Amino acid sequence: MCQSGPVYSDADSGKYRQKKYLCKMNILIIGSGGRESAFAWKIAQSKQTAQLYIAPGNAGTGQYGQNVPIQVSDFEEIADFVLDKQINMVLVGPEEPLVKGIHDYFLERADLRHIPVIGPQRQGAQLEGSKDFAKQFMVRHGVPTAASRSFNRSTLAEGLAYLETQKLPIVLKADGLAAGKGVLICATLDEAKSELKAMLEDAKFGEASNKVVIEEYLTGIELSVFVLTDGNTYKVLPSAKDYKRIGEGDTGLNTGGMGSVSPVPFADNVFMDKVEQRIIVPTIEGLKRDGIPYKGFIFIGLMNVEGNPYVIEYNVRMGDPETESVLPRIESDLVDLLQGVAAGDLFERSFTLSSKTAATVVVVSGGYPGTYESGKAINNLENVKDSIVFHAGTREEKGGVQTAGGRVLAVTALEDTLFEALQQATADAGRIYFEGKYFRKDIGFDLL
Ligand code: AMP
Ligand code: GLY
Repeated sequence: MCQSGPVYSDADSGKYRQKKYLCKMNILIIGSGGRESAFAWKIAQSKQTAQLYIAPGNAGTGQYGQNVPIQVSDFEEIADFVLDKQINMVLVGPEEPLVKGIHDYFLERADLRHIPVIGPQRQGAQLEGSKDFAKQFMVRHGVPTAASRSFNRSTLAEGLAYLETQKLPIVLKADGLAAGKGVLICATLDEAKSELKAMLEDAKFGEASNKVVIEEYLTGIELSVFVLTDGNTYKVLPSAKDYKRIGEGDTGLNTGGMGSVSPVPFADNVFMDKVEQRIIVPTIEGLKRDGIPYKGFIFIGLMNVEGNPYVIEYNVRMGDPETESVLPRIESDLVDLLQGVAAGDLFERSFTLSSKTAATVVVVSGGYPGTYESGKAINNLENVKDSIVFHAGTREEKGGVQTAGGRVLAVTALEDTLFEALQQATADAGRIYFEGKYFRKDIGFDLL
């Protein structure tokens, strides 16, 4: 895994000096969003990074490494590049290549097998790729979650009858990946029945809704908890809260995420202890018991119901825009933790956290999450002095930077207090200009 590098000595332990080799690695990050920008920003700071590449990256990731025009699920092109550039580690940002089996592809090829991939194999990625699989996993391992049942086309009549017995509102979830759109919260029985039919009979979400999970509606406050595991032990990374709705006051359509804060004030030690004992430990032990190898991040979407955590969803990657708030709070070397995942000695590694608060405000194209225009010139980025601007949907064009997606930039401030971080990130989001620009000015203010 390591290229040769200088030798250094760990701090004197008092008994003996342990010598380690500093691993200088060529690292490839797969993805192109704000999350991957944050990974690139952090990994570029590591003394253990030799060359950093991002495939395909965006106009911002080019500041931290070299962008490579390869799409995230083009495994053969990725493999050729990895061999050509002697990549020592591949970090997978989004879920799609994981669910499609990028890690399995590496393990199946004799010439790639030795190169660690951070992100689970296809089987583990089912925790995100199939809501029904995730539900069965949680039930099997006693992880608290909303009561549910799953139905397919041949059991539609039973599904409709089941709906009659349930309280409202009720949640319908397409089993497969549906670009974040596959969850419906239905306020009336009529709506729930017609949506269930639309999903199962009319393939409302394509193949993703061949199966539907009908789930009890939980009332509480959501937060995201992140775990890094080598499949044996784990580290609990900083938690974050994400703001999903497009409109201020959490109104309007769901988006990929309009902002985030870390830490989450209500996730105190008592609550996080419950999360660890009731959810994280049974999840890691459950994976082991089921014989599911897992090396990578687990993003646990939680509902805090009167002080008790329930799992809403598992994702098999980091969150976006949560990563943009989480990584700036990690003071120590992320690459060291990733090496621990690859080598299976994560328990020997440690990390240090900033006591500051991070706030991220996402700047989007007007019209998002519906239709929007791209190709707008982005100006005044240089006016931002006290926040980090992570690029998401951007591209380099004729020497300038243009919009190239719905979520365009993620502006992150790290300050002593939540209030200062929110003020700084919000003010800096306002300093950037492109035609049709929109951002929420109320991110995190509900937590003050
Ligand atoms: P997901 O795609 O699983 O993240 O779900 C999208 C959103 O739907 C979540 O972030 C929650 O706000 C909401 N949601 C999902 N499941 C439930 C549930 N059982 N009760 C209440 N809200 C839910
Ligand atoms: N911010 C939510 C997600 O990454 O799925």
